[in-house]
Amino acid sequence: MHPTRLPQTFKVKNFGCQMNVYDGERMTELLIADGLAAADGDDADLVVLNTCHIREKAAEKVYSDIGRLRREDGSVPLIAVAGCVAQAEGEEIMARAPAVRMVVGPQAYHRLPQMLGEALAGRRVTDTDMPSATKFAELPPRRRRSGPTAFLTVQEGCDKFCTYCVVPYTRGAEISRPFGALLDEAQRLVEAGAREITLLGQNVNAWSGEDGRGRPIGLDGLIRALAGLPDLARIRYTTSHPSDMSEGLIAAHAEIAKLMPFLHLPVQSGSDGILKAMNRSHTTESYLRTIERVRAARPDIALSGDFIVGFPGESESDFAQTLKLIDSVGYAQAFSFKFSSRPGTPAAVMDGQIAPEVLDERLKRLQAAINRDQLAFNQGSLGKRCKVLVERRGKRPGQWLGKSPWLQSVHFESAATVGELVEVELTEAGPNSLHARAVELATA
Ligand code: SAH
Ligand code: SF4
Ligand code: F3S
Repeated sequence: MHPTRLPQTFKVKNFGCQMNVYDGERMTELLIADGLAAADGDDADLVVLNTCHIREKAAEKVYSDIGRLRREDGSVPLIAVAGCVAQAEGEEIMARAPAVRMVVGPQAYHRLPQMLGEALAGRRVTDTDMPSATKFAELPPRRRRSGPTAFLTVQEGCDKFCTYCVVPYTRGAEISRPFGALLDEAQRLVEAGAREITLLGQNVNAWSGEDGRGRPIGLDGLIRALAGLPDLARIRYTTSHPSDMSEGLIAAHAEIAKLMPFLHLPVQSGSDGILKAMNRSHTTESYLRTIERVRAARPDIALSGDFIVGFPGESESDFAQTLKLIDSVGYAQAFSFKFSSRPGTPAAVMDGQIAPEVLDERLKRLQAAINRDQLAFNQGSLGKRCKVLVERRGKRPGQWLGKSPWLQSVHFESAATVGELVEVELTEAGPNSLHARAVELATA
């Protein structure tokens, strides 16, 4: 029997990227506005699985998560599958998992309350429309308390069609949210307690719009406007595409003090042959030139990247070129993945698929290089003074945890509060975090 009782409590479980987390927050707000209460434990009346499709076994994972929601007495909560797996495999989920009552794609979740009504009437509902009038206009305004750091989706979707990637199919075409709506949402986030906002998009630096006077602007113009919000201390953005790093955005790193010195710029491979097969629209050389320009604008910038090892046809020499690129950039951190064959993408049927042992071995070597550079970057920060935005208490009594401008995790002992910017000196460096000493500022 499916549950027909009006759900009182709900839980949203996020499995994906930062935009998936943002969507999870918006669904949470929507359900609260609909009269439900957020539950902490796993006994919620309604469970929303906010799924991710980017790499292997995504769908299998969803089925096992669904199975795990069955309670000891055999009953199940109302289950909604949302997110990118819902978009890609909605019909199969409905066919294979009778416990699922709702399937809702990433561009349709503003309709969750109506769907809930239908589900309670006994129907199983799927909504994977990608309406051109976006969900954003229909979502209720943000009004929950925010932590010191908040996400704000400014751009969605992707038109780039890298040959390995499902995002253009799960998120749809690129759209930019309008300037006024973003300023308004940012203002609300700040009023709700946010000190730092990270602007999100699958290709965030492809954002374009018009400012208050109708003049065309890019992401740098948006950042400049947000920097004018008095209580907003820090601005970040992710993920950028190398081909969309405009001169204006690079210059913004030199000119806007609130824009943090950190850039996540995925390259995927250091081999031009592989980049071409991936349909990345940049070369190794153009990528390195972009990095040079960014460093000229902001010499202390911390760089981050994404890498895929074992793309079909990747030879040992292609891989060696990736290691060489890593050596020449000196990343502060990076994400690396084994190539994962995604159904429906061109790379899934390319010749030269790489054996699992080779994927493992290359990933290990690449991660060793990244870890080495990450530690070197952290050690290079020793002795620096900077501000840390306090996010939460640390493990030890009196200890606080926050982020440096370069997105390093920093812990320190001092009297502080969450949301405060504390001046520190970085004193000890490990591969994943730093220790600091709070600096007593002389008051004038
Ligand atoms: N739009 C961003 C990244 C989106 S996905 C960009 O283009 O940079 C995040 C990362 O997941 C990608 O950068 C890539 O490194 C990885 N990824 C995407 N599809 C993958 C696949 N099929 N196999 C392995 N890694 C993948
Ligand atoms: Fe995927 Fe490429 Fe688009 Fe990034 S740019 S989301 S990797 S298709
Ligand atoms: Fe995953 Fe969708 Fe994000 S596939 S990485 S949740 S855009």
